[in-house]
Amino acid sequence: MGYAIEFEHISKSYTPEEVVLSDINLAIEEGELVVLLGQSGCGKTTLLKLVNKLLDFDTGYLRIHGKKLSDYNIEELRRSIGYAIQQVGLFPHMRVWENISYVLKLQGVDAEQRRERASQLVELVDLKQELLMRYPRQLSGGQKQRVGVARALAANPSIILMDEPFGAVDEQTRTQLQDQLKNIHRKLGQTILFVTHDIHEAFRLGTRIVLIHDGRIVQDGTAEDLVFRPQHPFVRSFLGKKGFSALFDEAVLAALYPLVLQGELDMQGCLALLGQKRARIETTLA
Ligand SMILES: Nc1ncnc2c1ncn2[C@@H]1O[C@H](COP(=O)(O)OP(=O)(O)OP(=O)(O)O)[C@@H](O)[C@H]1O
Ligand SMILES: [Mg+2]
Repeated sequence: MGYAIEFEHISKSYTPEEVVLSDINLAIEEGELVVLLGQSGCGKTTLLKLVNKLLDFDTGYLRIHGKKLSDYNIEELRRSIGYAIQQVGLFPHMRVWENISYVLKLQGVDAEQRRERASQLVELVDLKQELLMRYPRQLSGGQKQRVGVARALAANPSIILMDEPFGAVDEQTRTQLQDQLKNIHRKLGQTILFVTHDIHEAFRLGTRIVLIHDGRIVQDGTAEDLVFRPQHPFVRSFLGKKGFSALFDEAVLAALYPLVLQGELDMQGCLALLGQKRARIETTLA
């Protein structure tokens, strides 16, 4: 498998006084879900916006699917990259279905096909079909964020950039949105680059977490690596007790320590082993 996104020695400043990103090296494989984690102002949004060319970098190389960013036509690039942000940014005067399928309209897809795609996508993000005809002001915060995710998926992009897309909702809704994103990723297998400052969210979503501090990558690893094998004093101070407790979330543990049965086993053998491991079996076997 090749790389979906490669940052090589990328640096970026907005002003001569402040270096915002400094020597970023990061290679993301096709189909990976990678979380960029870090404090406010560390450069996460800036890094993300380099990928879809909302911003330009100063030095280094950036490749998308092996091709240099500068060799892409900007339309072609944006079409293959979905983008979801915290403020969602839905168009207030357009109905939900029009919002979701807006990119398709730009591509000249006819209205009937756009309605159909919007209908599939609300299903995928677990929204009711009747919401398709509503305006954004008639939705709850969590519903708006689901619409934002659906919109990012509309053109079937191979890469999705998500910048704190689940920021403005309560904890329970947030957990549901995270679980759902993992399911969508499992089903569709796009490459996802997800930005958050929330340790819990990072651990729940990412099998690979990239911790950024002051515009530099300080560690790139699993939640367990960050907590038990910090490579920089900042990692420990940033995670603190919260990092340790976030590790004991059921979803995090299941991702870190999947139950693997080895050897030649028949169904009886599998069940016996699962029993020994105290697995909860929630299936009916024929
Ligand atoms: N347009 C701009 N002009 C000048 N400086 C900027 C601009 N945009 C961002 N910055 C600065 O660049 C740094 C990184 O900003 P960025 O938005 O990437 O941070 P972030 O990690 O996404 O933070 P947050 O978690 O608060 O969203 C900050 O110091 C910010 O003040
Ligand atoms: Mg940001």
